Amino acid sequence: MKKIQDCKLKNMRYLNDDTYIIELSMPVMPEKIESGNFAEIRVDKTADVFLRRPFSVYDVNYKDNTISFFIKTIGKGTQLLSQLQEGENVNIIYPLGNSFSKIENTKTLVIGGGSGIAPLILLGKELKEKGSKVVYLLGARTENDIHLVEEFETYGEVLITTEDGSLGEKGRVTDHSIWNKISSFDKIYTCGPDPMMHAIGKIAKEHNIECEVSLENTMACGFGACLCCVTATHNGNKCACTEGPVFNVKDLKW
Ligand SMILES: Cc1cc2nc3c(=O)[nH]c(=O)nc-3n(C[C@H](O)[C@H](O)[C@H](O)COP(=O)(O)OP(=O)(O)OC[C@H]3O[C@@H](n4cnc5c(N)ncnc54)[C@H](O)[C@@H]3O)c2cc1C
Ligand code: FES
Repeated sequence: MKKIQDCKLKNMRYLNDDTYIIELSMPVMPEKIESGNFAEIRVDKTADVFLRRPFSVYDVNYKDNTISFFIKTIGKGTQLLSQLQEGENVNIIYPLGNSFSKIENTKTLVIGGGSGIAPLILLGKELKEKGSKVVYLLGARTENDIHLVEEFETYGEVLITTEDGSLGEKGRVTDHSIWNKISSFDKIYTCGPDPMMHAIGKIAKEHNIECEVSLENTMACGFGACLCCVTATHNGNKCACTEGPVFNVKDLKW
């Protein structure tokens, strides 16, 4: 069930100038949080940032009663969140949205671009528990924007592309040589910039491989009231916040 809760910032970990992880101490932990679920975080220190901002759950720790979010600074909201001090209150609505499907004993390619890597460590953990093999493909402009490689390696092999060639293969994720072996994968999961997910969805369809994408549509309420996150599917328009953010590309009108 959805909860609105005041939590406390337990830890703020900066990964570089514009990327950080916030760990929140929760008064009450949800029974279940799955990869793809997100929270709407209130950023109301100024009237300029009236609406909550959506962030995927990056990690959950039931021993410490904490939930973490991986955040990239984009505009005012994410900048204000980056200035939170340890012990400060943070109000969140969670858990929201659906989750990635977890398949057993298969080979999966899990692709993240930019802040889209946020839900993918949790996904890798879930897939590994199901006995599936995970190959991660992480893409960024430059080495400085590739994060958490060791954490990803806990759950699968990690392949990297950077647009300037400073780490891994040079180019975008869709240029990586792993695509030459794509028919050896049973399923693709991806989260990242829209053009990246469109390109991956197209390749997946061409190779007849199941592909799930987690959409980062602009959201306001996060629970189906404002309709600002609507996405067109073959079964009509759907709210990305309640019926997504995870969709099978076969269902999307892309
Ligand atoms: C379901 C969901 C999960 C998300 N998970 C994460 C996450 O785990 N980590 C993370 O860093 N970000 C995530 N995002 C994106 C994040 O919500 C936006 O980056 C954030 O709302 C921007 O707020 P802001 O106030 O800093 O920028 P704003 O001032 O609101 O916007 C600044 C600029 O960013 C653009 N922008 C606004 N919202 C988005 C968006 N959703 N995606 C891309 N560009 C946007 C605007 O068009 C504008 O040009 C997620 C989005 C969704 C919908
Ligand atoms: S964000 Fe309001 S309906 Fe989806």
